[in-house]
Amino acid sequence: MLQEAEVTADRPDKNAKPLAVVEIDRRGRIAIVTLDNPPVNALGARLRACLYDALAALADDLEVSGIVIACAGSTFVAGADIGEFGTLRQEYPLLPDLCALIEAMQKPVVAAIHGTALGGGLELALACRYRVVHQAARLGLPEVKLGFIPGSGGTVRLPRLVGPERALDMIVSGIPVGAHDAVASGLADGVVVENIVDGAVAFLRTRIEEKAPAAVAVRYRDDKLARTRTDPAGFDALAAKLAAKARGLSAPLACIDAVRNAFLLPFDQALGKEREAFVDLMSGPESRALRHLFFAEREAAKVPGVAKDLAARRIDRVGVIGAGTMGGGIAMAFANAGLEVIIVETGDEALGRGIGMIERNYATSVARGSLSEPERQQRMARLTGATDYAALGQCDLVIEAVFEDIGVKKDVFSRLSQVMRPGAMLATNTSYLDVNEIASAFARPQDVVGLHFFSPANVMKLLEIVRGDNTAADVVATAVSLARKIGKVPVVVGVCHGFVGNRMLAARSAQNEALLLAGATPAQVDKAFIDFGWPMGPFQMADLAGLDIGWRNRKATGKTAAIADTLCEKGHFGQKTGRGYYRYGDGSRMPIADADVEQLIRAKSGELGLQRREISPGEIIARTLYPMINEGIRTLDERIATRASDIDLVWVHGYGFPTAKGGPMHWARATLSRSELAQALEHWHNITQSEIFLPATGFSAFFDN
Ligand code: COA
Repeated sequence: MLQEAEVTADRPDKNAKPLAVVEIDRRGRIAIVTLDNPPVNALGARLRACLYDALAALADDLEVSGIVIACAGSTFVAGADIGEFGTLRQEYPLLPDLCALIEAMQKPVVAAIHGTALGGGLELALACRYRVVHQAARLGLPEVKLGFIPGSGGTVRLPRLVGPERALDMIVSGIPVGAHDAVASGLADGVVVENIVDGAVAFLRTRIEEKAPAAVAVRYRDDKLARTRTDPAGFDALAAKLAAKARGLSAPLACIDAVRNAFLLPFDQALGKEREAFVDLMSGPESRALRHLFFAEREAAKVPGVAKDLAARRIDRVGVIGAGTMGGGIAMAFANAGLEVIIVETGDEALGRGIGMIERNYATSVARGSLSEPERQQRMARLTGATDYAALGQCDLVIEAVFEDIGVKKDVFSRLSQVMRPGAMLATNTSYLDVNEIASAFARPQDVVGLHFFSPANVMKLLEIVRGDNTAADVVATAVSLARKIGKVPVVVGVCHGFVGNRMLAARSAQNEALLLAGATPAQVDKAFIDFGWPMGPFQMADLAGLDIGWRNRKATGKTAAIADTLCEKGHFGQKTGRGYYRYGDGSRMPIADADVEQLIRAKSGELGLQRREISPGEIIARTLYPMINEGIRTLDERIATRASDIDLVWVHGYGFPTAKGGPMHWARATLSRSELAQALEHWHNITQSEIFLPATGFSAFFDN
């Protein structure tokens, strides 16, 4: 029976979505309320209204002794409807109203959880008297990842079930727990192996028919709070540790306060404070940015010209050519995800060095406790080495990570034409070069794609997938699904020098030397970046990467950089030589301002006849980030990037752009006006004559959209 006429799902811009319904079935005296709102049963306004009406009717129904709340499709409620946040669609009943209704019910309500119960979904379940979970289910409160805190009782009820410390850990990390953990901690009351609804009905029937003592509503549970209330030392220590890791974000700190309120304040007061903090954070810029990134990730998987249901090719065995830092990291990324990997090097010595480096990396993870010894052994067992290309004959995908030189790469591709099996994919890990030209050296250019990993490749989340002119659609689809399988964020881009990320990085870096020559010190520039939210500034970054790389490139292309070239001539290659833009103590990565370098910079300004002056942080940001945004718009104009949100993903996951600002394009739209940016670009173009400040063709359109 349908509880209410079918109603449309309420995501504002998703008119084509299937219909949201609440259905009620009966098994004897037990009513089963099934929520159905594909794809993830998000609790939008209409679904909440239907559920509220259904439950209110069942509360008065004398034929019903107990209620099971379950979900259709692949998952229990995966959260409140994130698309509704920040819109006018926060309509009554709100989720707290629904939770209050459930908790006040005189008859027992069981949440029957399969798939994921996340955020508002878990809060709904916490208001129920019991939670029965499928063995493969996962339960969590991931709101912190979207920049807010649970707002419907999650921070107040969860500590009552699992204890404040455990709750704090779950809420601040946002990481869901599995079914068995949930039962062990007191969050769930039973695990079901087969059908979740049958299991939940059986569970409830036992309690009703065998007249088991009724469980107390979660709000009245105090047993797990009392200990922390009298001795909060353990809680405080954990809270301090978690706060130290908050990296300037507000939501983790608000989560800590909310969980503390759960054991210090009466239930309703704690609930009220939780809601206040939720509303406050949800409407703030940090959460808007993080929600933007959530939807950006989902959008990025939709690639123009690649049908959603296009079958991906099967990839079980991956070949990696080159066992240097990049090749080794790529090999680890695949081995970590359970794929077989063959690493090919030119000789036994280089191969041994590469595999030795991988072994050391894994050993470090075991020593740190982030990897178990059996898992390390399994990962190593997936890796084999070879010195002959013939070993790649049975690979489904081969990735070259050889020297960044077009001739070398084309030679590798042409040799691979002889050994790779038909249908196997070939990828280049180039960071700048022309993927079309590289592909032309391979017998089947339609099977070629760029897979631009970021160093260290086993850690960094971004994968720029470079689609060549001839790359087949199913090769792109395969690259996207494979990227997700190995835990990366895929962004499909077109061919140009440096693609999206490194091309914009060049624009961001173009004024670095000019800023030093005009009067800034490396430390002032880096501080402006760090204050903005970057993990480090451009000169710290250069010292980390090694100044000699850029020097070699400049010499090869006939370019110069007054300060960087002189530093390199003096042997200042950065951290690896103990001196770069900064000085470093023995084995230390801590940059120390170097008076000699500052003297050298002043001398260079003098040689060029420049009058040094005070450089403000605002000027530093305007001369580095504004041209980078402008370059981003150019990549949109040229269709190198598909959408602005793709660019944001590239910068957040590949270059450390602060997530709380949502990426450069989101930040520009959210905080700069078109005229402000246009005036700044014009101003700096007049002074520097640099083309990086010339507004992109689509500049106005970008701000209008
Ligand atoms: N509100 C609105 N839409 C949501 C949503 C939510 N809470 N959770 C997922 N969706 C949408 C996605 O945007 C996507 O829409 P699209 O197909 O139009 O792009 C669709 O549901 C499928 O999500 P996706 O993440 O691609 O599927 P998945 O199977 O890989 O993962 C989840 C499913 C539920 C694990 C994942 O979507 C998730 O973590 N969701 C957020 C949960 C959350 O943070 N809840 C707390 C909010 S209170």
